[in-house]
Amino acid sequence: MRKKVAIVTGAGRGIGKEVALAFARKKYQVIVAEIDSGLGNQTVDEISEMGEGALFVKTDVSKVNEVEAMVARVHEEFKRIDVLVNNAGISEFCDVFELDEMQWDKVIDTNLKSVFFASRAVARVMKKTGGSIVNMASTRAVMSEPGGEAYGASKGGILAVTHSLAASLGTYGITVNAVLPGWIETGDYGELKEHHHKQHLSGRVGKPADVARACLFLASRENDFITGAQLVVDGGMTRKMIYE
Ligand SMILES: NC(=O)c1ccc[n+]([C@@H]2O[C@H](COP(=O)([O-])OP(=O)(O)OC[C@H]3O[C@@H](n4cnc5c(N)ncnc54)[C@H](O)[C@@H]3O)[C@@H](O)[C@H]2O)c1
Repeated sequence: MRKKVAIVTGAGRGIGKEVALAFARKKYQVIVAEIDSGLGNQTVDEISEMGEGALFVKTDVSKVNEVEAMVARVHEEFKRIDVLVNNAGISEFCDVFELDEMQWDKVIDTNLKSVFFASRAVARVMKKTGGSIVNMASTRAVMSEPGGEAYGASKGGILAVTHSLAASLGTYGITVNAVLPGWIETGDYGELKEHHHKQHLSGRVGKPADVARACLFLASRENDFITGAQLVVDGGMTRKMIYE
């Protein structure tokens, strides 16, 4: 029996790295599809030190040819793909009157276009066996601060492409779900102040491991009745009513 294979995009640091480590702990062969070679190889080294299997494939997810080449290489080498976590993303914010076409396209191509083309590429492989796709959206898909037009549009688009792909791929036993993280601290957690934690119903800011567990849950074959879903992982922040 070959090991199950999980591709995690943007797994060089932050949430993606934690997701990659979580799948490695569950004995998946992990593919680190990352634009930054230094970061990507570091994740692979950490997984190797755990005694598990990982492969770095340098990929710019905003380029369809690179995404398709990465998936083709994984299929060629491992003969199966069980999970895709579309995590790579850039959070760029810009004054509404300053945002130019190039910035808009960069955010949409990296965060949204990548999700469709990577999902379709793996679905061509998963079609025979079934599989799970998890897309990293954001609570900013459904709420905003000023200057979030491009990022918010990319994340809202992810929610739409998630249920659309769930409809198209269900017949092949492929589930497609979205995770909506709120504030997930990827820097120095110890630097956070009490008021940062207290603004969450859960009483704390989120950690990458909170999101990684959600991805494992949605990717589990046991949970194949869940598809087209949106799982909010935000410590209750989007449910908090604010009167000042
Ligand atoms: N951290 C949060 O609070 C938060 C909240 C909501 C949603 N998210 C989403 O979660 C995902 C990960 O966020 P994070 O905070 O860990 O980000 P991060 O910036 O710490 O890490 C992103 C990773 O993606 C890689 N990457 C960037 N562009 C890429 C490209 N074109 N191709 C391949 N890899 C690329 C980076 O090199 C990096 O390793 C993103 O999609 C982000 O929008 C994060």
